[in-house]
Amino acid sequence: MTKPFRTLDDMGDITGRRVLVREDLNVPMAEGAVTDDTRLRASVPTVTELADRGAIVLVLAHFGRPKAPTPDLSLALVTKAYEQVLGRPVRYIDWEGAAEAVATLRPGDIALLENTRFFGGEEKNDPAVVDRFAALGDLYVNDAFSAAHRAHASTEGLAHRLPAFAGRAMEAELEALAKALGSPEHPVAAVVGGAKVSTKLDVLKHLVGRVDHLIIGGGMANTFLAARGVNVGKSLCEHDLASVADEILAAAERAGCTVHLPYDVVVAREFRPHPATRTVNVHEVAADEMILDVGPAAVEALGDVLKTCRTLVWNGPMGAFETPPFDTATVALAKTAAALTQDGSLVSVAGGGDTVAALNHARVADAFTFVSTAGGAFLEWMEGRELPGVAALMR
Ligand code: 3PG
Repeated sequence: MTKPFRTLDDMGDITGRRVLVREDLNVPMAEGAVTDDTRLRASVPTVTELADRGAIVLVLAHFGRPKAPTPDLSLALVTKAYEQVLGRPVRYIDWEGAAEAVATLRPGDIALLENTRFFGGEEKNDPAVVDRFAALGDLYVNDAFSAAHRAHASTEGLAHRLPAFAGRAMEAELEALAKALGSPEHPVAAVVGGAKVSTKLDVLKHLVGRVDHLIIGGGMANTFLAARGVNVGKSLCEHDLASVADEILAAAERAGCTVHLPYDVVVAREFRPHPATRTVNVHEVAADEMILDVGPAAVEALGDVLKTCRTLVWNGPMGAFETPPFDTATVALAKTAAALTQDGSLVSVAGGGDTVAALNHARVADAFTFVSTAGGAFLEWMEGRELPGVAALMR
């Protein structure tokens, strides 16, 4: 079947062609070492395939948010770790003299070009910067879904200047996301958690019209409970968003989307690991208590909801999962979703920074159908927004 975007399968013979490959190598580092190489690993299939097909592979990536070139955000710092992950030599190329350096490369060579954001015009999608990149290559591959919400020279501009293709990671991501919210099998459930409603208003508004069950957890559930007249004590809560929460609940009702809020919760007087806790009905939270996790009865009921669903989209934890024992609901519900996925009854797609950490913590990330490593781009996709880097790849 023809895909809506061109992939590496559509590139033809690329022997000796210079291919500019946009990857997201924006990895966390501490004391000079990469602390999570997930993104480096995600780029391996595309980069090695292009090299094996005889291309001259020129990897483009940003690193951090530099205001000007600075040695601590040089991609030279990532080159060694990248070589290890790829299992092949990688030639680091500074912008100074880049054209001459590229001219010395041979088919099958892999080079990592310096931080694209060392050009002020990168983030402005400045045509002069697009030209500068385009002059180095013959073809363009975008493999960085997690940077595709940026309309930058290396993520968007280049796709209009050179023949453009989606890399293998981009292709997998777009296909998984299409299955989850594009044309999913119903019933569809969405789990939306995290601390604040304010950061996910557009996500909630978009989802109520698309999913059959909206499961709200984390601190943001408190805002909805409070809007419904529940006294949430000292819990994290955006009281000023009560009317917005009401509007979302009304829109869900009109759309036939069932919103699930916790009816039992785990509360504590202090927020620290292993404080004294109580499991109570939401109407029994004391004035000096905080809701820190969804309770076991609600988790069981939510598991039953998932059992009736064919598709699940998950963003955000159900409780304060980084502080035990408030990881319990997140872990339990994630395990149910993972088991249903393994049984073949559920397509499960999860994404967003905290979510990946929570699923790794629950040791179920591998059991989900697809886990996106994208943060901001995943959220914008959940808001139903067009991602410029993706739009530019469409046929
Ligand atoms: C990310 O880390 O989410 C991506 O690399 C995008 O980075 P940015 O938010 O600095 O554009």
